[in-house]
Amino acid sequence: MTKAKGTGRGRRGGERRTSRRQTPAVDPRPLVVDIRSIGAGGDGVADDDGRPVYVPYTVPGDRVEVRPVASVAGGVRADILSFEAEGPHRVPPPCRHFGTCGGCALQHLDDTVYVDWKRGRVVEALARQGLGEVPVGAVVRSPASARRRATFAARRIGRDVVLGFNAAKSHLILDLAECPVLRPALVALLPSLRDLLRTMLEAMAAADVVVTETAAGVDLVFVMGREAGLDDRERLAGWAAENDVARVSWQGAEDVVEPIAARRPVTLSWGGADVAIPAGAFLQATAEGEAAIVERVLAATSEAARVADLYAGCGTIAFPLAASAKTVHAVEGEAGLVAAIERSAGAFSGRVSAEQRDLVARPLTVPELRRFDAVVFDPPRAGAAPQARMLAEAGVPTVVGVSCNPATFARDARTLVDSGYRLREVTPIDQFLWSPHVELVGVFSRDGS
Ligand SMILES: C[S@@+](CC[C@H](N)C(=O)[O-])C[C@H]1O[C@@H](n2cnc3c(N)ncnc32)[C@H](O)[C@@H]1O
Repeated sequence: MTKAKGTGRGRRGGERRTSRRQTPAVDPRPLVVDIRSIGAGGDGVADDDGRPVYVPYTVPGDRVEVRPVASVAGGVRADILSFEAEGPHRVPPPCRHFGTCGGCALQHLDDTVYVDWKRGRVVEALARQGLGEVPVGAVVRSPASARRRATFAARRIGRDVVLGFNAAKSHLILDLAECPVLRPALVALLPSLRDLLRTMLEAMAAADVVVTETAAGVDLVFVMGREAGLDDRERLAGWAAENDVARVSWQGAEDVVEPIAARRPVTLSWGGADVAIPAGAFLQATAEGEAAIVERVLAATSEAARVADLYAGCGTIAFPLAASAKTVHAVEGEAGLVAAIERSAGAFSGRVSAEQRDLVARPLTVPELRRFDAVVFDPPRAGAAPQARMLAEAGVPTVVGVSCNPATFARDARTLVDSGYRLREVTPIDQFLWSPHVELVGVFSRDGS
């Protein structure tokens, strides 16, 4: 039996964790406010005597009567009671769930304002670190129906199973009927997944289902919080065949993923390597976003002979780098992903190597870094502070940062710039359509080079 490390997303013991943090009481008397801007979380922001009022689903120019419902970061969050006037950039949202589903925050904005806002998030994060003069390019977009990976939440309630995304600002689950963001093959599985989960979930029990569309078909991890019984295995194998999915795996109480039905090899092709993807592995959210990231990394490192790819995942960036670099060294924390790179590295005659390493506890050291002409780093949301400090000291000629969090990227960029790097350009990449998230690629070189 092959076992891989878990998705890291599952609940333990089958129950959803809920926050019991108390929010200070607010005065719930209605206010009339004018929305002036959109905040970092995608809510409209008004000013009430110097206190910001955050109103979800509003646009600049809206005049709304609202009821304050919670204290948040120096202000209040308020719900709309009625509209007195609508701003000029409001458009009808394309999805029937908009306003209740927690997946999207910005479908009601016209496209120009939406894309300016995403770019603005990157510009503001850089400015807060004193990097306001850095050129920020146009946002590279992913279209609707492009997101290939998602985690659905499920709960048995009475005879039914609700399955979808968490409702906005809530732990309740919205029963998803459509989604203009996801790949159609993922949405099409919802009814049959609901039927399946009805047979596997006890009363009030909860689960997550991680779904990924690949060229071989859909790959699913059922995060169940309990071990799989014989019945579960038979049901899942039958369901996988009926729905012609590529692979079905189970994550129980431990953080371990066990394939139950592996019907076709789940591989992705990067730079001439066919990489077998472990169940639940990180992948960029859209193929379009991934292509844009890889293109920019390759353009920035085309002169480099020896390249390191830090936080390498399954090799999304490392294998394409091998087209121009003499050697590529991929470093990644998860053993299963390192093994996936190593299995495919054989075809590169020793030019691609992989290393398992925790880059927070043990970042690449200055002497190690000095062996490379270029270093790429693509950390999770927390950023790469310890590694950025080492890079700053090592002075590798070219550094490329890929990030899903402009704030931590800007912090790490500041560390590099303070040591003599120039942040030449930043490209915002929108893989999470209509959400507040934005990703980016930033290219650094030593001053004067
Ligand atoms: C944003 S993903 C990028 C993956 C890859 N570059 C790609 O484009 O698909 C971040 C990666 O960092 C890995 N990671 C997270 N924490 C880490 C750590 N402390 N040390 C090393 N790798 C880590 C994750 O397993 C994940 O593969």
